[in-house]
Amino acid sequence: MSHKKNILCIGAGYVGGPTMAVIALKCPGIRVTVVDINEEKIARWNSDDLPIFEPGLDEIVREVRGRNLFFTTDVFESISQADIIFVSVNTPTKSFGLGAGAAADLQFWEKTAHQIIEHSEGPKIIVEKSTVPVKTAEAMQRILSSNKKGIHFEVISNPEFLAEGSAVQDLLQPDRVLIGSLQTESGRKAAAELVDIYAQWIPRERILTTNLWSSELSKLVANAFLAQRISSINSISPLCEKTQADVGEIARAIGADSRIGTKFLNASVGFGGSCFKKDIMNLVYIARSYELHETAEYWEMVLRINDFQSRRFVNRVIRELFHTLVGKRIALFGFAFKANTGDTRESPAISVARHLLEEHARVVITDPKALENARIDLADVLDRVELEEDPYRAAAGARALLIVTEWDEYRRLDYEKIHASMEKPAFIFDGRNILDHQALHRLGFNVFPIGKPALTHYA
Ligand SMILES: NC(=O)c1ccc[n+]([C@@H]2O[C@H](COP(=O)([O-])OP(=O)(O)OC[C@H]3O[C@@H](n4cnc5c(N)ncnc54)[C@H](O)[C@@H]3O)[C@@H](O)[C@H]2O)c1
Repeated sequence: MSHKKNILCIGAGYVGGPTMAVIALKCPGIRVTVVDINEEKIARWNSDDLPIFEPGLDEIVREVRGRNLFFTTDVFESISQADIIFVSVNTPTKSFGLGAGAAADLQFWEKTAHQIIEHSEGPKIIVEKSTVPVKTAEAMQRILSSNKKGIHFEVISNPEFLAEGSAVQDLLQPDRVLIGSLQTESGRKAAAELVDIYAQWIPRERILTTNLWSSELSKLVANAFLAQRISSINSISPLCEKTQADVGEIARAIGADSRIGTKFLNASVGFGGSCFKKDIMNLVYIARSYELHETAEYWEMVLRINDFQSRRFVNRVIRELFHTLVGKRIALFGFAFKANTGDTRESPAISVARHLLEEHARVVITDPKALENARIDLADVLDRVELEEDPYRAAAGARALLIVTEWDEYRRLDYEKIHASMEKPAFIFDGRNILDHQALHRLGFNVFPIGKPALTHYA
């Protein structure tokens, strides 16, 4: 079948893979190619064992792969054939040199610009899909315009707002799609081309067009606001523990106010994921580079509260287990940074596990999807960690269970059986507040939720 348009996506990760699968599904007239330098990843995208887990993704990939969705490592051919190139490479926090630990590392990003110049024969629209610092498009445009072939590249911004764990649903029915372009004739024309693609399945009123810089900055601000909600409620949770207030009741009470709203008000062990922390650090770095120190400090506090919350969680475990964890088996239920994903990047479980190991605890980790990544994240301490697929076996002989990821299956376990298999007194620290604490208490557990009164069998 000949296709009207060729789209290429550089980067077959958590964003590139699902986004392109949905575009291919909804736009059968477009040929979509996803390219990556990682051969193993591409081989898995071309197999039944996809490199990432997202509910609903397998089915879509199975339907469109080979029809109008293709995964390849052939950068040269893919670039030369593409009309529109999405750049969805990783933009991690810089770990060296100027801005280390704060600024975005744009080396992968810049490399793609040079690859695009090298392999292009005609004009193309370049879409920033990765999350980048505001004004990155200016640098991208400069690099691309330096090509000696006289080719016009139009850089536009189209940040991705999907959340891992619900990526497919978020892509099928997004709250909004954001497209930013230069307010020039060619900029507007490029934006309109992208609008037409999304409009094949998304109502027009949900497709927002803005200037380029608003679009780039909106993505960082959106993540900062989401993380801020979590840190705001988390900052209140220790106060609840001191005063017998219940953070769940507070969330319900304040969330009923339509100006505040109900979402993202669950107190927890803290947020994780590859984006929140890095995007806030990036926002802080940008603010500081413009000497906006108050803005920088304001957002920095969101990260400080997050670290405080996970540290506080472990400190409580130490305190309640009689001030020593030496030789005690502690079971972590969940290692993914959130439910329905195998992604563990910046998962609070990593720091929780490491802090427990510092205390010489015997750590056992169970997770339905993330053990493969846990093995990588804890490679240097694997001799002291047990990875166990079965939560019942993980709990057997443990002194304490720590709920670190809000997997639904953890709500449905037989806690009577678990209690019977544990060392006594048995403790549960519910870092996600997902369990029935009263019922657990009746079974004999000492229960420590976040921001709620503890339920113990001692005074
Ligand atoms: N993960 C999320 O939930 C999410 C959500 C919204 C936005 N984002 C942003 O999207 C971007 C991508 O995130 P991700 O989670 O998909 O990252 P990822 O690490 O899962 O995937 C990026 C991929 O790009 C590939 N790559 C790097 N340089 C390349 C090159 N020159 N040519 C070909 N492939 C190359 C890497 O091999 C990797 O497979 C980041 O900027 C991130 O901040 C992520």
